Amino acid sequence: MNDILRRQFLTHVAQTSPSPMMIEVARAEGSFFYTPEGKRYFDLVAGVSVNNVGHGNKSVIEAVQRQAADYMHIMVYGEMVERPQVEYARRIAALLPAPLDSVYFVNSGAEAVEGALKLAKRYTHRTEMISMRRAYHGSTHGAMSMMGAPEGEEWKGAFRPLLPDTQAIEFNSFEELSRITSRTACVLCEPVQGEAGVRPPVDGYLQALRERCTEVGALLIFDEIQTGMGRTGEMFACLKYGVTPDIVCLAKAFGGGMPLGGFVASGEVMSTLQSSPTLGHITTFGGHPVCCAAGLAALDYLVDNDILSSVEHKGALFEDRLRSHPAVREIRRSGLLLAVELGSSERLYTIMSLFAERGIMSDWFLYCDTAFRISPPLTISDVEIEECCGIILSCLDTFS
Ligand SMILES: Cc1ncc(COP(=O)(O)O)c(C=O)c1O
Repeated sequence: MNDILRRQFLTHVAQTSPSPMMIEVARAEGSFFYTPEGKRYFDLVAGVSVNNVGHGNKSVIEAVQRQAADYMHIMVYGEMVERPQVEYARRIAALLPAPLDSVYFVNSGAEAVEGALKLAKRYTHRTEMISMRRAYHGSTHGAMSMMGAPEGEEWKGAFRPLLPDTQAIEFNSFEELSRITSRTACVLCEPVQGEAGVRPPVDGYLQALRERCTEVGALLIFDEIQTGMGRTGEMFACLKYGVTPDIVCLAKAFGGGMPLGGFVASGEVMSTLQSSPTLGHITTFGGHPVCCAAGLAALDYLVDNDILSSVEHKGALFEDRLRSHPAVREIRRSGLLLAVELGSSERLYTIMSLFAERGIMSDWFLYCDTAFRISPPLTISDVEIEECCGIILSCLDTFS
């Protein structure tokens, strides 16, 4: 490890916590990344559900190189006809259920959420915005306002005042749906809660949420920033759970490893952003042509190689191998998004340092420090899963 680089990292690259992982990356390929000394890590985080098509994906690299050579940034988003944007939007619209056919490209997940919230206010002429407890939607003021209270208070409390007229209801509670009323502009919901520690919806919940929103005229926004682009085994979780929202937010894997976000609505809903005021939501770099080319190449790779057909099997393989270990309390899962529950934060900290030693990159969740994350590239092979589970099981044996 290069000590000068480490010191410069700590001095000049702003930190988000007092204890960064500090693993130097030299290169990455498939399900792995490597340090300059050649130490290999199984990547079970995949940049937090970003690298769905695997590291160093040749199709994505070629698309980036080609587009960078043709043209990069020309003019602010929404003014010029840029083929990678148009093509990607057309493909996303074809994959999402009708009437979701208009994509507004942005740069990140938080920004997609910001745009979706503004669109809902603009469309409904209402102000109340409802989110779910233990929700995470990003770190900008608007997105942070939608972190579920009271749990989200640990993060957002220090930054008040935030957006007014927000409240959080309990995910999966049918009783609390009555708090959505004719005052409500929108309900923002992750179809599978990610940072809550992987909480899939119970049967019928998303349908009931959809019905309640329709009944009172509130827009339903699905945050598919972590679940989109195949993570749960379908291209989008809304397809898996059979519920069509009014707006879908995308980011993370949407850019194929490049920074890209988007929110998608019907043309009718989306068109309200065009006037009164015009330019009410604008972005310089949103839908950067190189990022769109990368996202489109990643989508093509998923489809052409039929990657999604094995996601459920691979998720189940992880679950089967790990579930019977006595240290594992529970496994929560949707496709290749898993939380392995150890029931104790001390145990989690111990396992994390063993993982680091033995070449496993995992993480805990914002609201759940008793479970570790498994969300590898969707391209991980069965053989790699077997090897990886062998290492995880040997680490878990510490608790026997
Ligand atoms: C469900 C969800 N929404 C939004 C975000 C924010 O995305 P970004 O970090 O790109 O702003 C995240 C990031 O972890 C997320 O998991």
